[in-house]
Amino acid sequence: MDELVALSKRRGFIFQSSDIYGGLQGIYDYGPLGVELKNNLKAAWWRAMVYERDDVEGLDAAIITNPKTLRYSGHEATFSDPLVDCRTCKARWRADHLKGDQCPACGSKDLTEPRPFNLMFRTAIGPVDDGSSFAYLRPETAQAIFTNFKNVLDSTSRRPPFGIAQIGKAFRNEITPRNFIFRVREFEQMELEFFVPAGEDEAWHKLWVEERLNWWEAQGVPRDRLELYYVPEADLSHYSKATVDVMYRFPHGLEELEGIANRTDFDLGSHSKNQSELHLAAKVMENVDSNTRLAVQDLETKAWQVPYVIEPSAGVDRGVLAVMNEAYRVEKLENGNERVVMGFKPHLAPIKVAVMPLKRNHEGIVNKALAVKQSLQRLGLGRILFENSGNIGKGYRRHDEVGTPLCVTVDFQTVDEDDTVTVRDRDTMAQERIAVAELPAYVKERLQA
Ligand code: GAP
Repeated sequence: MDELVALSKRRGFIFQSSDIYGGLQGIYDYGPLGVELKNNLKAAWWRAMVYERDDVEGLDAAIITNPKTLRYSGHEATFSDPLVDCRTCKARWRADHLKGDQCPACGSKDLTEPRPFNLMFRTAIGPVDDGSSFAYLRPETAQAIFTNFKNVLDSTSRRPPFGIAQIGKAFRNEITPRNFIFRVREFEQMELEFFVPAGEDEAWHKLWVEERLNWWEAQGVPRDRLELYYVPEADLSHYSKATVDVMYRFPHGLEELEGIANRTDFDLGSHSKNQSELHLAAKVMENVDSNTRLAVQDLETKAWQVPYVIEPSAGVDRGVLAVMNEAYRVEKLENGNERVVMGFKPHLAPIKVAVMPLKRNHEGIVNKALAVKQSLQRLGLGRILFENSGNIGKGYRRHDEVGTPLCVTVDFQTVDEDDTVTVRDRDTMAQERIAVAELPAYVKERLQA
């Protein structure tokens, strides 16, 4: 973990947030390479969940959430961790993270009894902060999928089985954020709420577990580094009938990467029930069924059914950490030196190709390298970097360390002789000469392999 943290800072993947002011605990910023890696991981999820399927729609809902949503979802009452205070040094801990009955900071045994601490962040809406108009920052992206269920249903004519996918920020006031970006207070989730007819839920649950394991494997996280944990009944969230956690061997231990829950008809049912009550109070019950009930009407029997929900919910930040951990390797070279390589899958690599002029001040070579960069950028594969440091050896080392799959060098032979460039492979370090005219097709094939 220490090596990943150091590399993240050194090369611009991840920084402590508000660093110059001493940081904010449990909050991180993604740097120039981190933002590319994170975007690539999210794009891979979106491709697999939305574009490559024919039964999922996308959504991008607001972060600031009406408190009623989180009241009827059960979060106001139950979304809490057991908090213990140390009376001696005033440190706060999650009771289930304590080893024994001592404060990990000062060793005192003078601890309070555990009490529930709600993890949701509150914010004030409008100019008057008198507590009357507050809202929450969403603790999961899922709720806005449920509250938009009818909007999506009506605007797309979908019928279960179908899903709604969303990627976005979530916020939790974790008592003890730790392990770099593993447990943080501001993070991103990639969540799918997959709506199925009651009775088909268990089969779909199994299927989604398999789908998700395959997806992680395609991101470079092998199956033998993942374990499935069937959450015991006593530990299930208030909405869940069954949850399977995908556990990954993080540098600090085996922990949850993604949770795949059978949320039953809990959320849609509970929001529908609340809507009915609201409308009853307003004496407009006649509108309840058609306008606000989060349910689907059987076209023949006209009966309403609240679908069941299977929810694969993955943390983007935990995904980034897992992918970085898998990619990281140190190799011994024949000359006795070492090289650090981030062996990202090409579709996740922050920089796809670095184009380097052999001489930084040679106009012909530099201009040619710029033109090559532009021709590759137009392929739309992601970021192509023009790297004009003039030191090819150092450039290779830097790009090994950030996981750039290919480096292209433009040299005298390119401009004076035959219009070919050197293409150097990150993993094998092999170099071959390729004609500039063939380079885009060559690069495309190599990166999409
Ligand atoms: N909608 C279901 C839900 O939110 P969860 O197990 O609480 O379920 C889903 O969270 C995923 O979100 C987790 O598997 C994890 O990857 C990520 N996650 C949750 N809390 C996190 C935190 N404090 N920091 C980073 N990621 C977190």
